[in-house]
Parts: sequence; C-alpha cells; structure tokens
Amino acid sequence: MEIRVVAGGIQSIEDELIVINLFEGVEKPEGATGAVDQALSGAIRELVADGDFQGKREQVAVLYPRGAIPASRVVVVGLGPRDDFTLDTVRHAAAVAAKKARELGVESFSSIVHGAGSGGFDLAEAAQAVVEGSVLGLYRYQELKNKPPDRPDPEQFTLVQFEESKVPVVERGAELGRIAAEATCLARDLINRPANYATPSDLAELALDIAGEFDTMRCQVLSEEDADELGMGSFLGVAQGSEEPAAFIVMEHNPGRDDLDTVVLVGKGITFDSGGISLKPSQKMDRMRGDMGGAAAVMGAMLAVGQLQIPLHVVGLMPATENLPSGHAYKPGDVIRAMNGKTIEVINTDAEGRLILADPLAYASRFEPKAVIDLATLTGACVVALGQGMAAGAFSTDDGLLARLLAASQATGERIWHMPLYDEYLASLRSMTADLANTGGDRFGGVGVSAMFLKQFAEDYPWTHLDIAGMTFEERPPSPQLPAYLQRGGTGFGVRLLVRFLRDWNEAN
Ligand code: BES
Ligand code: ZN
Ligand code: ZN
Repeated sequence: MEIRVVAGGIQSIEDELIVINLFEGVEKPEGATGAVDQALSGAIRELVADGDFQGKREQVAVLYPRGAIPASRVVVVGLGPRDDFTLDTVRHAAAVAAKKARELGVESFSSIVHGAGSGGFDLAEAAQAVVEGSVLGLYRYQELKNKPPDRPDPEQFTLVQFEESKVPVVERGAELGRIAAEATCLARDLINRPANYATPSDLAELALDIAGEFDTMRCQVLSEEDADELGMGSFLGVAQGSEEPAAFIVMEHNPGRDDLDTVVLVGKGITFDSGGISLKPSQKMDRMRGDMGGAAAVMGAMLAVGQLQIPLHVVGLMPATENLPSGHAYKPGDVIRAMNGKTIEVINTDAEGRLILADPLAYASRFEPKAVIDLATLTGACVVALGQGMAAGAFSTDDGLLARLLAASQATGERIWHMPLYDEYLASLRSMTADLANTGGDRFGGVGVSAMFLKQFAEDYPWTHLDIAGMTFEERPPSPQLPAYLQRGGTGFGVRLLVRFLRDWNEAN
C-alpha cells in the first residue's frame, strides 16, 4: 500500500472513501469531523441523535454524501471514551477503518490523523500510530494459498493534514510508522510460515538478503562446524537431533563511527519445537512453528535499523535450529558444555530455549555491549503467570536498561511486565553431575527459574530477558476487546518495542 500525505481539509478531499472519528458521548462533533458533518448538513449529528452510533471503540458507520462533498464515502470510526484515549486507541481505530475500506472494496482511501486534534497527541506520534494501525490491521498471511483473497488490499492510503506547514511532520511520522509496521509484518510472516518453509537455512538466507540491502550491515552465518569451534556445545546439543542444519546467525549494523554504543539483540530461533525426546503432546503442536518468534523480532528490528540508519552499533544474534527427537537427539541426563565452559545437565529436552540462548549470551560479551536484550518464547509458565497476549515477562540485571524498555513499551503499546530475578530460583537447578541442570523438579516458578538459568550466561553487561511466549502467537478469535491491528497467528511482538528502544537510546543518555 502506498502511503502519502496531503494538505487540506478532509471535507474537500476527492477520494473513494474518507475516514473521520468520534469520541463516545459526543453529540456535536468538532474539528475535522465537525467540518464533514456540516458539509453533510448534520448527517453525523443525526446518526448520533437517532442512537445509531455512540462512538464506541469498535463502531464504524458508513455515510454516502451523494455529491455534498467530493468523497464518495465517509467512514466514521468510534474512538471510545475520551478518558481512555491512548495512542493504542489510534492504532486500533486506524485498523478498524482500514479493514472497513478493504471490505468496501475501495482502492484508495484517505484519513485524518486520529489523536492529533482534540486528542492532544504529538502530531508525528499520532501519524505514526495511524500508519502502524492501518498496515498491521490489513495484514494477512496468504503466501501458500493459490486462490487470491476475495477482497484485495487498498492500493493507496492518504493522510490528510489541515495545516500545510505541518505536512513534513506528518510525513516523518508516517514514514516511521511504515518502517516499523512493515518490519513487524516481516516478523509475522516468519512466525506464520510453516516450519518446512522457514528452516534455519531459510532464516539465514533471509538475514543475508536483508544485510545485503544496506551498506552499514553485514551478516555472518556460522555453521554447526563453526559453532563447534567456538565451543557452543549447548546450542549444538539441541541441534543434534535434527536433520536440518542449524545456523547461528549474526547480523551487524555498524554506521562506522567509533563513538557509537553497542547494543546486542538475541532472539530464540527454534523453527519447530516438538519437545525432542521429552516430546510435547500433539495437541496444538503446530503452533510450535512460532517458537522462533524471538528471532523473528530481532530480524524485523534489524531490517528497521537498516532502513532508519540508526546511529548505533546494533548486533543481532539468532541461534536457529529445530528441536526434534531422533536416533541422534540429545537425551535427558546428557551433559553438554556451553561456550563459557559451564556444564549443563539436560533434565528435560523441551527446555531447549534456554540451551540455545546460553551460547549467544556468552558470545555477546565479545562486543563489549552497553546492553543485551534477549527475546524468547521461553516458558508456558510465563503465559500462566501473565496470561495469553497480556504482557511479556521482563527480567533485568540493570534498572536503567529496564526503565528504557518500559518507556518503549509505553510508547508502542507492546506491554512488558517486570518480574524478579531471585537468587533462590537457582536452587532448583542444582545438578548431581554438572554445574547446573536445565530445569528444576518443582512445578512452581518456572518462569523465574528459566530467567535465572539465562543469567548464568549473561555475566558481563547490562541485560534484560523478555519472555514472549504468550505474545508471539495470537490464539484468541477477533473480538472488540482485542486490538483490530492484531489477527490470529503471528503478532510480530517485540519489533516495534525494539525499534523504539533503539531510536530513543541516544536521547536518554
Ligand atoms: N517453546 C516452549 C515454550 C512455549 C510454550 C512457547 C507455549 C509458546 C507457548 C519451550 O521450549 C518449552 O517447551 N518450555 C517448557 C519448559 C519446561 C520443560 C521447563 C514449558 O514451558 O513447559
Ligand atoms: Zn520446548
Ligand atoms: Zn521452545
């Protein structure tokens, strides 16, 4: 979809469809909506007075101006109560409107910048949110379907800004929104893509392609032999059960200035998690193609980093492998050795995420990073604790780093929630034969235990671990409670959070 910005009043725009909005409880619309209402001789006031439209969050009304204004259709989208209004409401409203435009079969539509007028938000932020909501709302995964969808996507989307002098601000926000949303769609595609189409080699190839687009970016794919030479026995232990060659993907964005801080992003890249010898139940096992949601978020973030040319040294580490049972799979009771020399007794082969992260966390030290953030669909226990789609669990060894991530979370609506790293969690990882075990016998506190396991390998730098198990794959059916920019399947959670965090890094210093 092509996105552009024009100056003018929305009531004078000639397009197949224009979008305006209304807060809940407003009887006499003002601003852009008021201007359209007036041009339509009070048609919107009448809609409200008749009780047909209350401005509720999920509501949309379509009006046909029949020549009263140049546009062929008017879509009024509800914003809900003014007191609950956030940038996330803007994303949601934009998604509702974009989906309506598609449903009506239009090729081109225009919208005001929701939230910038009486909503009181910064104009660039609001424009960014409108574009994010529209692009993410229209997302569909259909690369493996032969039949095209009944309703094609609109081809053109125009943001309308009343004051000509503010057009560049809207353009800047819209461009940020497009980049963040398209990077999120890339992550969604990777998560939705079946494991036989998204193998570790496929991820590696994509990473090489992305890096090739930017002069500032390099990508190095370490083979199993390379990883072996580096002593990555923990990663390779998981990989040994699969016929698919594993890949340790290193992406590096370096604008080539030696005064830049280094930030390392690590993403769990299990392209399919069967559980291995500790086999998972077959119900819903297909969802485990999304067990590379962390790597997908890092890949998406790296794409955006390249496009935005962020003035930071950013390294993306993506250990990628399947976790499968076979005659050469690792077994419960086996002991493997991570890159930092620590030995690990494998109690449960389904706790493989922490094993493939141990090595990249140790490897990250060589970059002398100012921050390391890992994202991983690590534990069902995190979903039990916080709920499906509610928030990612955030574990941090550094309060400053956590604060920056919480600020990015606030700005993007990608929720993270602070969780504790108690030393006592380690007690359950005591092993008879090795330095530590990969799981404890206790069924309580599994998410804290997994984070404390990772901490044993994240020793030399400020570190935050995000357990995104409940956030990567949306299981819930569409409902008014769910933001309209999320569909069932891959969410791309973490991309917008990381991009925001990296963009703000130098400002917060
Ligand atoms: N990939 C799973 C965690 C997961 C569960 C992600 C649900 C997304 C949705 C992970 O590898 C796993 O299997 N974890 C085990 C750990 C246990 C064996 C200690 C779990 O959570 O049950
Ligand atoms: Zn597992
Ligand atoms: Zn897993």
